Amino acid sequence: MPEPRLRALGLPDLSALIELEASGQAHPWSATRLEQALAAAEYAVLGLEDAAGLIGHAVVSRQPFDAELESILIAPERRGEGLAGRLLAAVIERAREWGAERLLLEVRAGNAAAIALYRRAGFAEDGRRRGYYPPLAGTEREDALLMSLPLA
Ligand SMILES: CC(C)(COP(=O)(O)OP(=O)(O)OC[C@H]1O[C@@H](n2cnc3c(N)ncnc32)[C@H](O)[C@@H]1OP(=O)(O)O)[C@@H](O)C(=O)NCCC(=O)NCCS
Repeated sequence: MPEPRLRALGLPDLSALIELEASGQAHPWSATRLEQALAAAEYAVLGLEDAAGLIGHAVVSRQPFDAELESILIAPERRGEGLAGRLLAAVIERAREWGAERLLLEVRAGNAAAIALYRRAGFAEDGRRRGYYPPLAGTEREDALLMSLPLA
């Protein structure tokens, strides 16, 4: 099978992006939020696609000194192939092009796959926001880990 192709997404990709979010995210972004990210100059939305269509995406925003990884998602049937690592490398490259000093992110403390991905890319844990996320199941709220990667 040929390698999935990585490219910057734009407004024509909105419906594919909405579908991917709905299939792979416990709390999918709204269509409005996705559309704003695709349209705004201070955002980049990167996508991975194969012959069947979009199979992953990442949203990164540009801030005065830092960049923030706001979302990264791989279609459930394509997880565990290292594809998120490719997307994350492209996000890091984009943040460097913007001149960002750090790439920041927040992640659920129980999201082992995402935390493994970030640690492998060199992110360090800066802190924790207690009970930041609403429960995914049951009633317990979940902590957010704050992580960053120095780029400068
Ligand atoms: C997080 C996510 C993007 C990772 O995508 P992926 O393409 O499967 O990631 P990779 O194949 O690059 O694997 C990432 C690492 O997680 C590990 N991993 C995968 N599933 C795991 C699990 N259930 N528990 C622990 N580690 C896991 C892999 O072994 C790999 O680590 P390693 O290289 O040190 O072995 C994907 O699981 C996803 O889309 N999740 C839903 C959205 C999400 O939670 N996004 C992050 C927060 S915004």
